[in-house]
Amino acid sequence: MRVAMIGTGYVGLVSGACFSEFGHDVTCVDTDASRIAALEAGRIPIFEPGLEEVVARNTKAGRLHFATDLTEPVAQADAVFIAVGTPSRRGDGEADLSYVYAAAEQVARAVDGYTVIVTKSTVPVGTGAEVARVVARTRPDADVDIASNPEFLREGSAIEDFMRPDRVVVGVRSQRARDAMRLVYRPLFLNETPVLFTDLETAELIKYAANTFLATKITFINEVADLCEKVGVNVQDVARGIGLDKRIGAKFLHAGPGYGGSCFPKDTRALVALARRAEAPLSIVETVVAVNDARKRQMVDKVVAACGGSVRGRKIGVLGLTFKPNTDDMRESPSLEVVPGLVNAGAEVSVFDPEGMEEARKLIDGVAWCDDAYAVMSDADALVIVTEWNQFRALDLARVRELMRVPLLVDLRNIYTLDEAREAGFVYHSIGRPK
Ligand code: NAD
Ligand code: UGA
Repeated sequence: MRVAMIGTGYVGLVSGACFSEFGHDVTCVDTDASRIAALEAGRIPIFEPGLEEVVARNTKAGRLHFATDLTEPVAQADAVFIAVGTPSRRGDGEADLSYVYAAAEQVARAVDGYTVIVTKSTVPVGTGAEVARVVARTRPDADVDIASNPEFLREGSAIEDFMRPDRVVVGVRSQRARDAMRLVYRPLFLNETPVLFTDLETAELIKYAANTFLATKITFINEVADLCEKVGVNVQDVARGIGLDKRIGAKFLHAGPGYGGSCFPKDTRALVALARRAEAPLSIVETVVAVNDARKRQMVDKVVAACGGSVRGRKIGVLGLTFKPNTDDMRESPSLEVVPGLVNAGAEVSVFDPEGMEEARKLIDGVAWCDDAYAVMSDADALVIVTEWNQFRALDLARVRELMRVPLLVDLRNIYTLDEAREAGFVYHSIGRPK
């Protein structure tokens, strides 16, 4: 099959590269010329483990191409995927669909012969139907079907998630579109991956409901962690104890500084807005959004309290800036609350992140940027772990202890055991565990 992928961000590039791995002929299109130039030169513009190899292999095999102009790739394509951003609209939290509709119009102008136009971006109920109207208005003569194929990959494990998904969801309106989408995902059908065909609206809502459910699960365990701190219980034991119940499941029960990233925050807000508009408010999700926003700010208070009530003039080292490990994505990262919060409270803050520094420099002011993990802690009065990169799990604690002025460790990701922190001589504060 010939596939055009419109938008070459985290989702578009991974999906495009993986579709070429399935054997399809894929062109990834982006309006950002520097991104396409980098890809054409063999450079990957984002950090995503394993992506470079998949891109290199398929580019070399002649199955994966890049372009800034969608005209030709779309004209030649059997399936066109729209994978552009759907950020939060300022003010009302609704998804900003302007990129999706602009792309739909451009695609409509270029299609030639029967084509399935597929929304891969995360979009509210009704967007696929509106894409169909945009296309019909722009090109009444076009022979097209509209489909919705939300993406469930996670950053940091995107290739594995795409190639071996728990399920694929495809919303269609016709048998012809269903057949075309079966061909797109043929290798996964052969693998017996569950593929769920629905209508457009159901596929759209499944995506938001899935992300919101996961965000709720995290927020639940975060609040339980706060309770644990008050009643002297270890939240990790509670998470294990409930997670072994298959109806609950062990995943997404890691207490931390609040969920971040390019999707959970914006998608929970968008579902709240959609539900209010539909006059069926989702009060649980509204609470999740409020609790998570407050939690990120409360992490500053937690560090201040650990430092004895003030951080004015104190040297604080921060490890980890990205919203999760194995990505360079800084969008809505808890660090964007924690670091400026500490700076505003008068601390001298040094930071390090393995992949997020370049992006973080555009978003954070007034800190010292360090070249490695140990540099942030020299003479520090406190060390704060914000993101659980593997390299921070394996710190030489004796060396850390020696470098720091005061042996105070505030671990917002629970990556050390209480015993190892204590034995290494630290005063150790973590999330939802007895001191
Ligand atoms: P992104 O911001 O990383 O990338 C979007 C890209 O689209 C940008 O490079 C932009 O230049 C390009 N673009 C915008 N308009 C264009 C146009 N008309 N023609 C060509 N290119 C255009 O976004 P992302 O993180 O990949 O997310 C894309 C969508 O996928 C969002 O709706 C998001 O919610 C959803 N999603 C993201 C993830 C994730 O892990 N990031 C996972 C699942 C779903
Ligand atoms: C999430 C979903 O997991 C994907 O299925 C979905 O496709 C994607 O959003 C999307 O729609 O974009 P992602 O944001 O890449 O993926 O990363 P997650 O691993 O889900 O983590 C999101 C946030 O939750 C991070 O800040 C992470 O630290 C936090 N988290 C996650 C916890 O605090 N505890 C957990 O147990 C799990």
